[in-house]
Amino acid sequence: MEHIRAHVLLCAGTGCISSGSKKVEAAFQREVARKGLIDEIKIVETGCHGFCEMGPIVIVYPEGVFYCHVKEEDVAEIVDSHLYKGRIVERLLYREPISHEKIINYNEINFYKKQKRMVLANCGHISPEVIEDYIAAGGYEALGQALTKMTPEQVIDEVKVSGLRGRGGGGFPTGMKWEFAKKAAGDQKYVICNADEGDPGAFMDRSVLEGDPHRVLEGMAVCGYAIGASEGIIYVRAEYPLAIKRLKVAIAQAEEMGFIGKHIFGSDFDFKVKIKEGAGAFVCGEETALLASIEGQRGMPRSRPPFPAISGLWGKPTNINNVETFANVPQIIVNGGEWYASIGTEKSKGTKVFALTGKINNTGLAEVPMGITMREIIYEIGGGILNGKKFKAVQIGGPSGGCLPESMLDLPVDYDSLIQAGAMMGSGGLVVMDEDTCMVDVAKFFVNFTQSESCGKCTPCREGTKRMLEILTNITEGKGKKGDIELLQQLAKNIKATALCGLGQTAPNPVLSTMRYFMDEYEAHINEKRCPAGVCSHLSGYSITENCKGCGLCKQVCPVTAISGEVKSRHSIDQEKCIKCGACMGKCPFKAIRKG
Ligand SMILES: Cc1cc2nc3c(=O)[nH]c(=O)nc-3n(C[C@H](O)[C@H](O)[C@H](O)COP(=O)(O)O)c2cc1C
Ligand code: SF4
Ligand code: SF4
Ligand code: SF4
Ligand code: FES
Repeated sequence: MEHIRAHVLLCAGTGCISSGSKKVEAAFQREVARKGLIDEIKIVETGCHGFCEMGPIVIVYPEGVFYCHVKEEDVAEIVDSHLYKGRIVERLLYREPISHEKIINYNEINFYKKQKRMVLANCGHISPEVIEDYIAAGGYEALGQALTKMTPEQVIDEVKVSGLRGRGGGGFPTGMKWEFAKKAAGDQKYVICNADEGDPGAFMDRSVLEGDPHRVLEGMAVCGYAIGASEGIIYVRAEYPLAIKRLKVAIAQAEEMGFIGKHIFGSDFDFKVKIKEGAGAFVCGEETALLASIEGQRGMPRSRPPFPAISGLWGKPTNINNVETFANVPQIIVNGGEWYASIGTEKSKGTKVFALTGKINNTGLAEVPMGITMREIIYEIGGGILNGKKFKAVQIGGPSGGCLPESMLDLPVDYDSLIQAGAMMGSGGLVVMDEDTCMVDVAKFFVNFTQSESCGKCTPCREGTKRMLEILTNITEGKGKKGDIELLQQLAKNIKATALCGLGQTAPNPVLSTMRYFMDEYEAHINEKRCPAGVCSHLSGYSITENCKGCGLCKQVCPVTAISGEVKSRHSIDQEKCIKCGACMGKCPFKAIRKG
């Protein structure tokens, strides 16, 4: 008889697959067979753990030993040493970035310790392609409870009590939205899951769909029951092939088990789910553009009202929620709205998943309770700034969001505080920037993004973002002039007030927030033709400071003989000759060469 004594959880999320987890898995199958352990060791493919830069990740249970950067050639040692002799392979353990302390157990890693993984609870711990794993973790209990013990009104009330707000960016109260769709008159209603995730660097929704697709299906089915919809559509970008594959598997399994289909749990409730693949335009994440795209039209936003709850897909009442919003629903039904409302702040309940990226030691997905401070996210979960550099800013909320400076690090992360500070929660992108970042260049990057993603339907966004981009480009190229700041502010105000959809209305946010907190950098670029961070190539040069001891090392490495000076006296750089390669700066033992 089979007696499983250890489980090897192998991450098969997109990140780990790209760093070779499939080869690692094949090696485990081989080595476990070679040792005759097939009946004792179970190898399980899981979704993403949110720590993809450590991939491929392998966790061995029951101990919960976390191995990172595992290669095919490491597997024989894990099997021989750990699985056969019970000795942990220390060289493959995770090390904390600053203390370099080796950590054995998954739960002891700082990156995970401070997190509150509710939406991501199953990601990395169950096999996303095995419905029994989801059921064993409490899956489909919420749907059963809703259909057999609750009326649709009670379901909506529970979601209202929970205080859940939409995780797709706007933060609209979910229960209220469901109530509008329920009350709307219509013979046919739709539930749509917005999985068009397009913010640069964001991969929260992809990770949930790849790691725990049934949770999203269950949330959609509960919503369908609550509002009286018999059809659900998942609008997912075609660039997420693994998420699509796992969703297809999940839908087929849920149909087979009767969680989707006709007379679910013996009730009168029927619900089917389809997938619609999006072609990747950022604007198609906007709900009215998304509806147009599903209907086969060009993905362009339209003005609201009417809101989709009243007139949505094919003119029928439609409820649209984000992936993470739906993924929150099952636990609210099972544990109750009040339980959920006990987590977070007064007006922002529950948790939020962030994609931590940029100049930070631990990059990855972090699910945290609302109200946590930015400092806790960046320093305790993120492990601080890369290479011991100084923190400069954090960009939160993607292209619609804003950049917050060091003085805002103790700001509680919730919908309202972020808006007051000039940023927004957005869908959860969090980019950390260090002292080497130019904030004007950052603003230019985001305006360039929104400008190229603008659908062109309305003038303020189409033309306004183009003008903003021109001005920012001029500033970073040393052609900034008096009046540019005022012009940017005026343009930003007008675009925000008059653009048709959220893309245009929020496009000026990165510019406004960088001007609010980093005006000195704009002024240095415009008035002194200087980029303080040394990023803007037209404005940056290298210079030798009074710390120079005249050792001559820089002179030796300069490829264009731009450096001159006598031994033991201060050297200088001929700016006409210098090609800005930076070689001298790296060579100077006295840190006497400055960039900027
Ligand atoms: C330009 C633009 C892009 C958007 N992209 C997304 C997206 O990728 N995913 C998403 O859930 N919401 C996105 N939204 C927000 C949606 O329009 C909508 O508000 C959201 O899907 C509602 O779900 P929620 O209430 O659960 O947040 C976008 C909005 C705009 C203006
Ligand atoms: S604001 Fe921009 S993206 Fe939105 S409708 Fe207008 S042009 Fe299109
Ligand atoms: S940056 Fe390069 S080219 Fe310029 S002075 Fe230094 S070594 Fe020479
Ligand atoms: S390497 Fe540094 S100290 Fe030596 S000459 Fe160059 S700038 Fe001066
Ligand atoms: S894909 Fe493996 S940790 Fe993200």
